[in-house]
Amino acid sequence: MNLKGKKIGVAMTGSFCTFEKVFLELQKLKNTDAELYPIFSDASQTIESRFGTPKLYLQKITEITGKEPIFTIEDAEPIGPGGYLDILVILPCTGNTAAKLANGITDTPVLMAAKAHMRNNKPLVISISTNDGLGMNLKNIALLLNTKNIYFVPFGQDNWVKKPNSLIAHTELLLPTLEAALEGKQYQPLLLSYD
Ligand SMILES: Cc1cc2nc3c(=O)[nH]c(=O)nc-3n(C[C@H](O)[C@H](O)[C@H](O)COP(=O)(O)O)c2cc1C
Repeated sequence: MNLKGKKIGVAMTGSFCTFEKVFLELQKLKNTDAELYPIFSDASQTIESRFGTPKLYLQKITEITGKEPIFTIEDAEPIGPGGYLDILVILPCTGNTAAKLANGITDTPVLMAAKAHMRNNKPLVISISTNDGLGMNLKNIALLLNTKNIYFVPFGQDNWVKKPNSLIAHTELLLPTLEAALEGKQYQPLLLSYD
């Protein structure tokens, strides 16, 4: 499936160590002539860390997408009635957002966007990035994997020696995952080693 002209919501949550990789993939996505609609969780628009500042993230995302991000629940809500996205991807998706999404919680702009978009029976893609993917969050990931219209960017254990429960998506597979999801398919293989 050609991504040209597709309206793609790109929702960023607070896995700051993956932001640099994510920006690279978003640039590739933009180069396909897709139309990108950025959305920021509260954490991703406020937390300053050793990986960067919200000001820098905002500058970068606006540069890539040419659009001002959605920063609030009230601005994310119209995604439902407007039905203007073909597909929404949460990337990176924290353990926090995955856990809330799996349990129907809608208290950030990203979660509101996901809920609003899903009511339209359209695909949602998750690019997981969490240290507790094989721990506390495994049950939530399982719930999401088994939910209609939800697809995952293939993921694996990025460092099983130092972080045995960590699961990180292969963000370099974002484009083929989106293409497959738009056809109602999970891009395979889903489990992909980092070794
Ligand atoms: C420097 C830093 C790096 C973080 N990296 C991650 C991460 O890779 N994965 C994750 O699940 N949470 C990570 N967190 C924690 C989340 O930012 C935190 O759970 C936050 O509440 C997430 O909110 P959100 O899911 O609404 O964006 C990190 C926090 C900080 C300060």
